[in-house]
Amino acid sequence: MNVTFRQLKVFEAVARHLSYTRAAQELHLTQPAVSMQIKQLEESAGLPMFEQLGKKVYLTEAGKEMYSYSRNIAAQLSEAEDVLEQLKGVRRGHLDISVATTANYFATRLLAAFVSEFPDVTFSLDVTNRASLLRQLDMNEKDLVIMGRPPDEMNLDTDMFMENPLVVIASANHPLAKKRKLELAELANESFVIREQASGTRIAIQRFFTEQGIEFKTSMEMTSNEAIKQSVEAGLGLGIVSVHTLELELETRRLAVLDVKQFPILRHWYLVHRHAKRLSPVAEAFREFVMENADNFITRPEL
Ligand code: PGA
Repeated sequence: MNVTFRQLKVFEAVARHLSYTRAAQELHLTQPAVSMQIKQLEESAGLPMFEQLGKKVYLTEAGKEMYSYSRNIAAQLSEAEDVLEQLKGVRRGHLDISVATTANYFATRLLAAFVSEFPDVTFSLDVTNRASLLRQLDMNEKDLVIMGRPPDEMNLDTDMFMENPLVVIASANHPLAKKRKLELAELANESFVIREQASGTRIAIQRFFTEQGIEFKTSMEMTSNEAIKQSVEAGLGLGIVSVHTLELELETRRLAVLDVKQFPILRHWYLVHRHAKRLSPVAEAFREFVMENADNFITRPEL
């Protein structure tokens, strides 16, 4: 097969957008130029990569296979560019990171502090849940990921850098807010507002209650920590969240942290990337910066 990088690049854009028009816009090409590259690729592969039904473009079986390879090749090429930059000793460039929904409470502060040391660095930040972070790691899409404990079986490089305690919260006027040294069993009749299935916090909570042999009732499921805190404040139930999410609410006493004997559930934050990945100079500098400075830039409320 005689495929050129240019054809692969064009193919990757069309496959990602499932649109010739949008791929052409992104690559600053005309639409006929895009169609021509795809036609040549299909001729050289001997199989169609796309099919068009009405106005919609779909990947064929061969197209799907090609897409997964072309993404890897694109990632490798960008890694190669980064490594060459490294050889030039350059400490500027772009940092593409993803963080767990909960880590967003401190990630922007860390990035701001980093950029004040490396003003020529630009970055993009994706905030998403654990399941989606694991998919991004699998596809090698990001320079670095900040998340809760990653799974052992994924062949990742992980650096633990800070504690992430999970605590039980209630509205400030909840009857349990005044009690001391609550037993976990005393929470069995309460209902909890919790995060979605794909959240790391949710998985940790479920594992904890299973280990303790206690059932916990859930009343509502939400995809953001903000929504959970507001529901808890409105009296819709108890919540279990990371202390990182609570800075403002504890300061203004809008929420109370319950004094439950078995709490906090102690988790940690990790900086993660695929084992085989060569970090760009900027990513390596950020990794070192986080490992050395995280504690100075992240304030955690006193419990
Ligand atoms: P989450 O992840 O925001 O998806 O809950 C946080 C964590 O893994 O601790």
